[in-house]
Amino acid sequence: MIIDSKFLNLFAVATEKAAIGASKFIGKKDKIAADKGAVDPMRHQLNKIDMEGTIVIGEGEMDEAPMLYIGEKLGTLNGPKFDIAVDPLEGTKFTANNEPNAFSVLAVANKGDLLSAPDTYMEKIAIGTNLPKNLLDIDNGVEKNIKLLAEAKNKELSEINVCVLKRSRHDHIVEELTKMKVKINYITDGDIAGALSVIGKNPRNDIYYSTGGGPEGVLAAAALSCYGGQIQGRLVLDEDEKKRAINLGIKDFRRKYNIDDMVKGDVIFCASGVTNGDLAKGVKDLGNKIEVTTFALHKSKKTNKTFTKTYNK
Ligand code: FBP
Repeated sequence: MIIDSKFLNLFAVATEKAAIGASKFIGKKDKIAADKGAVDPMRHQLNKIDMEGTIVIGEGEMDEAPMLYIGEKLGTLNGPKFDIAVDPLEGTKFTANNEPNAFSVLAVANKGDLLSAPDTYMEKIAIGTNLPKNLLDIDNGVEKNIKLLAEAKNKELSEINVCVLKRSRHDHIVEELTKMKVKINYITDGDIAGALSVIGKNPRNDIYYSTGGGPEGVLAAAALSCYGGQIQGRLVLDEDEKKRAINLGIKDFRRKYNIDDMVKGDVIFCASGVTNGDLAKGVKDLGNKIEVTTFALHKSKKTNKTFTKTYNK
């Protein structure tokens, strides 16, 4: 089912208000306050929309998150049924430290069309457009995947750019990449933008190869699906997280999710910049007004646009 295009602007207001809320905490060294600054206005705006919305990717599960928790119902309950994935503030550290690439983001699909994943880690590999479907597989290992990608892109290994989230848990990945003499581009945080760095006209990277948040994986999948990019993910679960996963209907803990398992059908994706970043410019204080920029995608309408709005303070 196609999502009515009127919803794009309504959902964009939710990320815009959240970005403005978080922007009050830029450089204030308080990640928690910055996150709350985004959550409250996002929830307030989502509740105004004529829909029966359900959070499937959120700030955590009901007992650990006061708002925007997985399963929370949103909207006036008078309208279409949507699954909603939110990350009210992607880049809490970036915001707290006044660094680039913090943004507020959400994705919306028809009910049942988004994977509901617990707030745990996910192994991820993401690649761009015009590549054979399911070209890569996490279980192939780094060397085979990079060789398959280089072959499919008709590139030398030395021409392959790999985005890696800088964490010690990725030392083995980095070791193999280094041996293969590919180019490694590190990010310090923010792996939605990392995964999305494989798309666009001149993508900075050929592949994103790291373990980051599961929610971020599903949000990246929503955007990649609008471009025809690909992502494969597998949740990383300890014993407690396995119990939480069962509550969300996940039975096979080793399951690899391809993009179609994470996002089905039509989808809207909106990201509004908090600090300046690759996806959108950051919030700007204009005195008595405030300016905010949003990057928005709507799969069925082939919408791919960036727009800037001003709000009264
Ligand atoms: P937050 O802004 O929610 O803190 O997430 C930032 C982030 O870098 C995500 O983009 C990424 O998926 C995750 O944290 C990685 O987690 P960790 O810092 O624990 O490795």
